[in-house]
Amino acid sequence: MNVKEFIQQYRVVPVVVFNSIEEVRPKLTAMCEGGLPIAEITYRTACAGEAIKIAVSEFPDMLVGAGTVINAEQCRQALDYGARFIVSPGFSEEVAKICNLNDVPYLGGCVTPTEIMTALSYGCDIIKFFPASNYGGLATMKALAAAFPAATFLPTGGISDKNLAEYLAWEKIFAVGGSWMMKGTPEEIKEKCRTAVAIAKDA
Ligand code: 3PG
Repeated sequence: MNVKEFIQQYRVVPVVVFNSIEEVRPKLTAMCEGGLPIAEITYRTACAGEAIKIAVSEFPDMLVGAGTVINAEQCRQALDYGARFIVSPGFSEEVAKICNLNDVPYLGGCVTPTEIMTALSYGCDIIKFFPASNYGGLATMKALAAAFPAATFLPTGGISDKNLAEYLAWEKIFAVGGSWMMKGTPEEIKEKCRTAVAIAKDA
């Protein structure tokens, strides 16, 4: 499975926060049933590593990555547990080095030209733009893209099914990330994933 191609098929990356291990199986099952088998499991809670391990071993058809990875230790753990891509809110050079050594895509957060220059110097050409709505959304990304034609973007923060189509309509959007489809019961998650996939297909 090629990670970038897999994400591009869907163009939506669910940002997943697990508060307990009990949530992992029902929520991942709902995402798969909703037709969105991608999970960026975030290191915002203590059970993130364990959740990645379960996701990788029990959901082989899902693309499992790690998010909110803010240091080398979390990055190494996520890779050991089988994460296929790494996402950070900012750009970490130490994380970029580990990902490059392991040939794993690193989507580090950048909101300034200087940060994008650092990312590109590590070969990271998919720029996570976070928090997208606070930093001017599409208008800011378009201004940045003028200087960096090689870059594509993964905006996250403040995106929902209300503005998803607008973001995806711009060809420099690699994919859109967010947690909006992860709220509620497994049944609700399934429905929201279905809606997100349908919007992305039309965009
Ligand atoms: C992220 O880490 O990418 C964001 O927290 C996702 O933002 P959202 O919760 O507003 O979708």
